[in-house]
Amino acid sequence: MTETKSEWNSRSAFILAMIGSAVGLGNIWRFPNVLYSNGGGSFMIPYIVSIFLLGISFVLVEYAVGFRFKKSIARILFTISKKLEPVAWFVLFVVFLITTYYVCVVGWDLIYVVLSFTKGWGANPDLYFANNVLHATDSVSGIFTIVPNVLVSIFIIWFIAWFINKRELNNGIGKVSQILLPLLCIMVVAIVGFSLTLPGASIGYTQILTPDWSALGNAEVWLAAFGQIVFSLSLGMAIAMTYASYLPKGSRLVDNAVIVAFSNSGFEVFNSIGIFSILGFMTLTSGIPFNELVTEGSGLAFVVFPQVFNTMGPAAHIIGPLFFICILFAGITSVIALLEGVCYSISEKFLIERKKTATVVCIVGFCISTIFATGAGSTILGIFDGFLNNFALLFAVLLECLIFGWIYKFDDLIETLNEHSNI
Ligand code: PFF
Repeated sequence: MTETKSEWNSRSAFILAMIGSAVGLGNIWRFPNVLYSNGGGSFMIPYIVSIFLLGISFVLVEYAVGFRFKKSIARILFTISKKLEPVAWFVLFVVFLITTYYVCVVGWDLIYVVLSFTKGWGANPDLYFANNVLHATDSVSGIFTIVPNVLVSIFIIWFIAWFINKRELNNGIGKVSQILLPLLCIMVVAIVGFSLTLPGASIGYTQILTPDWSALGNAEVWLAAFGQIVFSLSLGMAIAMTYASYLPKGSRLVDNAVIVAFSNSGFEVFNSIGIFSILGFMTLTSGIPFNELVTEGSGLAFVVFPQVFNTMGPAAHIIGPLFFICILFAGITSVIALLEGVCYSISEKFLIERKKTATVVCIVGFCISTIFATGAGSTILGIFDGFLNNFALLFAVLLECLIFGWIYKFDDLIETLNEHSNI
C-alpha cells in the first residue's frame, strides 16, 4: 500500500533540497570549462539570458504542474492524457540510466576523498587515475574484469542513496539537504578564500573578468549557455515537479524558483573563481599554459587537481580533502533527487510503499552500475553520458515543453504560480 502523501515540513527543506538537486558535478567541474571556452566574462550575457528564458521558465512549469496535480510525473501525464504516460516512463528511464553512471563518478570521487588525505595518487596522477583507479583498458574484454575498489565505492554511494531515499521525505532528503548544503557552502567559501591568496591566482580569475565580446556573435556560445542551464538546473528530469508536488498549500512558487535558479548559478560562478585561481597558481608554478589546465569533468577533478595539490605543499592536506568532499556532498544531493522522481512514480503507479520501492530501485541501479566498475567502465560511461546527456535528455526537455506548453492549457498554470507568490 502507498503511504499518505508526503509534504515538506519547512520552506527551507524544500529550497535546500532543490538547490541540492541542482548543485552537482555540473557546477563544480563542467561550468568552469564551459565558461572558459565560450568567451570568459562575456559568456555571462548568454548565461543570464538563458537563466531567465529557459532556466526559471522551465522550473516554473515543473513547479506549477507538480504543485497543481500533487502527483508523480507518471500519474500527471496519465491524467492529462492516457497516451502521454509512456513519455513519463521514457523520461524516468533516461533519468534512471543517468543516475547509474552519475553514482559511479561520485564513487570515483569517494576514492579521491580517501586518497587526498595522504596525496595517495603519487607523483603521476594521470597514470594513477587510469591504471590504479579505473584499471582502464581499451579492449572489449575489459568488460569481464571487475575493478574491486570502484565496485565498493559505487556500492557505498548506492547504499547512502538508498538509506536516504527510503526514509520519510523530511527525515531523509529534507534533513540531509539541510545538513549537507550549508556544509558545502562553508567549504566552498573556504576553498575560494584560500585560492585567492595563492600566488598566480590573478592569472586565473582575470579570465572571468576578461570578456571576449566577439564570442557573443557565435551561436555555439549561446547553445553552450542553454546547455549548461539544462544540465546544471537538472531540467526535464522531473525533479522540480516531484519536489513541488510535496509543497504545502500557499507556497510561493515563483519566489522559490528564482531563489533556486540564482543560488545554483551563484554557486557555480563563485566556485569557478576558486577553480580558476587554483589553476592560475598551477600555471605560475609549473609553467603549464592555463588553457591546457582548464579541462572538463574527471580530467579536471581527478588528474589536474591532484597535480595541483602535489605542488601546493602542506595546505593541500586540507584543501585537497575539502575539494573532494565538496564534490561528494554535491553529488549525493543530486543522486537522491534523481532517484526521488523515479521512486515516487513507481510507488504511486504500482502501490508499493516508499521503502520497498527505494530498495528495489537501488538494487537494480547498483546492478547496472557494475558495468562501470569494469576495466571498460570509463569507456562505456563516456558513451552513456554522450548519448543520454546530448540526445535523450534534450529530447525529454523538448517533449515536456511541448506537453505543458502546448497540449496542456498553460494559462491555467499561470494562475497557480501567481496565487501566493510575491514575485
Ligand atoms: N544538476 C546536477 C549537476 O549539475 O550535476 C545533477 C545532474 C544534471 C545530474 C544532469 C545528471 C545530469 F545529467
